[in-house]
Amino acid sequence: MGQRAGRALLLLLGALGALGVRTAAAQGRARPHSLRYLFMGATVPDLGLTPFEALGYVDDQLFVSYDHETRRAEPRTPWAWGGATGQLWLQLSQGLKGWDHMFTVDFWTIMDNLNHSEVMKLGALPVSHTLQVILGCEILQDNSTRGFWKYGYDGEDHLEFCPKTLNWTAAVPKARATKLDWEVNSIRARQNRAFLERDCPEQLRRLLELGAGLLDRLVPPSVKVARHAASAVTTLQCRALSFYPQDITMRWMKDRQPLDAKDVDVLPNGDGTYQGWVAVSVPPGEEQRHTCQVEHLGLEQPLTATWEPSKSGPLVIGVISGLAVGVTVLLAGVLFRTLRNRQASRAAPGAYVLANLG
Ligand SMILES: *[C@@H]1O[C@H](CO)[C@@H](O)[C@H](O)[C@H]1NC(C)=O
Ligand SMILES: *[C@@H]1O[C@H](CO)[C@@H](O)[C@H](O)[C@H]1NC(C)=O
Ligand SMILES: *[C@@H]1O[C@H](CO)[C@@H](O)[C@H](O)[C@H]1NC(C)=O
Repeated sequence: MGQRAGRALLLLLGALGALGVRTAAAQGRARPHSLRYLFMGATVPDLGLTPFEALGYVDDQLFVSYDHETRRAEPRTPWAWGGATGQLWLQLSQGLKGWDHMFTVDFWTIMDNLNHSEVMKLGALPVSHTLQVILGCEILQDNSTRGFWKYGYDGEDHLEFCPKTLNWTAAVPKARATKLDWEVNSIRARQNRAFLERDCPEQLRRLLELGAGLLDRLVPPSVKVARHAASAVTTLQCRALSFYPQDITMRWMKDRQPLDAKDVDVLPNGDGTYQGWVAVSVPPGEEQRHTCQVEHLGLEQPLTATWEPSKSGPLVIGVISGLAVGVTVLLAGVLFRTLRNRQASRAAPGAYVLANLG
């Protein structure tokens, strides 16, 4: 492990510990995890795509990328560097090299079966085609595993592997020829199944051990309700802040009855946590009948929040934060002036100092 990367990781883990971050293991609650590989390639290099590009994710964390030119797997997170992982990296690199080759062969097979390769070979039309593959596995809460292996061609679902039957499912009629080609090759199907059912969960378990503390941490959300009143419509917005992992359930209830489920918008915060929100329109005056309910693995029980009219709560916070902003502006002003004076006194007469903003 790189000394510096190692130390940075320890610092990060230390900081998480200091924040009172709990882990799923410490809570005695297993949560689902996934290992996913994404492959992509395109036929026209002018579009800036390489013939084969691969990314590997554990949950939402990119941990490996593979470069077609160098034929090497590159670790993308410090925790994946662990000293004892030589064997795992060797296995990952070998796997990716194999998939690099497989991808190119599959790409030609699919294009041949769609009569797209003739055009390519004649060089008649500079039409680009793309192939994407997603494969990997999940370990579910009950410790069972599920594998998946799908192809997308020109941005559409094309073929999906079924480990149980060793068959391929054609998502579109024109994928049938390739399905039949691949089903003739039972060795390949068995290899796919062995990877999905044995190797992939094994890799995932080892990666989870390496990323323990980071990948299984639980950061519960804090929940806030804000109100936006425009002429006829009042909107209540429920926000869940700074939580990990990404999965969250947020719903609005009216008189304790759940309202129709709406999609929760979830975005990464950039610091490894997420925020989510869900809004509801309410008739004016009915705000108090609405409650936002939030469920998250980091919470012992669901959190609820209601909009508080500004009697004391929000008003006091408003005053305090107003004060804080005032003080900050004041301090910034003092600092700016001090700096400017210092610069001015140091600068030669007539030299360009700072724009006079203050
Ligand atoms: C490809 O071309 C052959 C011969 O021209 C034709 O029989 C076949 O239907 C074509 N396949 C597709 C998917 O268009
Ligand atoms: C989950 O399954 C794996 C592989 O079968 C086994 O090694 C592990 O001990 C199991 N874990 C639990 C918590 O049952
Ligand atoms: C799927 O696989 C089974 C068993 O290998 C085979 O009998 C069946 O014909 C296949 N189905 C299709 C639609 O190819």
